[in-house]
Amino acid sequence: MMNIPFLDLSRQYLAMKNEIDAAQARVFNRAWFVLGEEGEAFEHEFANYLGAQHGVGCGSGTEALHLALLACGVEPGDEVITVPNTAVPTISAISFANAVPKLVDIDPVTYTMDVRQVEAAITPRTKILLPVHLYGQTADLTSLFALARRHNLRVIEDACQAHGATYGSVRAGSLGDAGCFSFYPSKNLGAYGDGGFVCTNNPEIDQRLRLLRNYGQTKRYYHATKGFNSRLDELQAAMLRAKLVHLEKWNESRRQLAQRFNARLEGLPITLPMQAAWGRHVFHLYVIRSAERDQLCSFLSARGIQTIIHYPVPVHLQEAYRDLHIPAGALPEAEKAAREIVSLPFYPEMREDEIEFLVTTIREFYQKAS
Ligand SMILES: Cc1ncc(COP(=O)(O)O)c(C=O)c1O
Repeated sequence: MMNIPFLDLSRQYLAMKNEIDAAQARVFNRAWFVLGEEGEAFEHEFANYLGAQHGVGCGSGTEALHLALLACGVEPGDEVITVPNTAVPTISAISFANAVPKLVDIDPVTYTMDVRQVEAAITPRTKILLPVHLYGQTADLTSLFALARRHNLRVIEDACQAHGATYGSVRAGSLGDAGCFSFYPSKNLGAYGDGGFVCTNNPEIDQRLRLLRNYGQTKRYYHATKGFNSRLDELQAAMLRAKLVHLEKWNESRRQLAQRFNARLEGLPITLPMQAAWGRHVFHLYVIRSAERDQLCSFLSARGIQTIIHYPVPVHLQEAYRDLHIPAGALPEAEKAAREIVSLPFYPEMREDEIEFLVTTIREFYQKAS
């Protein structure tokens, strides 16, 4: 028995305590907390890292998607094509924009949008294609962009789980009309609270985003449009700046850890994460698939190992989205995946003894089962 939490963020903090504490002190001493130097510097630094021309900090990943949809010209009743196996906020953002989510099934191997199904879902009301780069890996984008061009649609990338992932040599988020990020604390680049970001190469979208996140203000108390309050505060921006310089190293650790997990779990009747040839997976989550998923989770839990399912109920089967009128069975791959997937504890600061206990316990489960 060993207590293995799904994630322990205190280890990352302790390893860089001086940098985080200094960033925090810098903001307190300057005593400027919203829309200031730290936010501006972070916007430049993260946009630059992504290879995008512009970047706008905002309040969360959900709001990044909401603001991006509006800035890309979505109007009430417009349709947005996305997937059912995502964090529900992807869909909430579409609802906030008064648009209609249209769901296509996933590719069962990568768990990302099955692009072969997209064309059939396009109607005259379709405005946006919104692929989700799930678990740290991008969707297959080449044919999706070809479709977008052919049908004159915009592409918004949900890169909330894909900080630093690539499609080819290009970083996730920077390919579409807009790319949206979450800095929820557990992300590969996480804040100490909520935060979000939209990057774009389109100066008009950038300008609209800046207005929308700050009450539609052009200058203090002059409002050009109806806007919101959704800003990345100075404290979070300062700490994200401190963390951004480590992101590549952390992503590389995640990739190496995934290789070690793969090697130790090979040969068991479980499906290991697939790394698509089209890009670099940054393993926000390490997700395996097993026909005995629930029994495996109980076995691990009884031995002190915490697991989480991302996500147990696809969006169309959630109570909140009954009004989509998509019946059970309509999106079979997403539904099957929801019954079989589980995310294991997985982060760069995991200790050797924890890794060893985790893989040994999984192997033990299958020895008992056989
Ligand atoms: C794929 C995806 N989209 C959207 C979100 C929403 O981000 P946030 O929690 O920052 O609002 C998340 C994070 O939970 C996510 O993983």
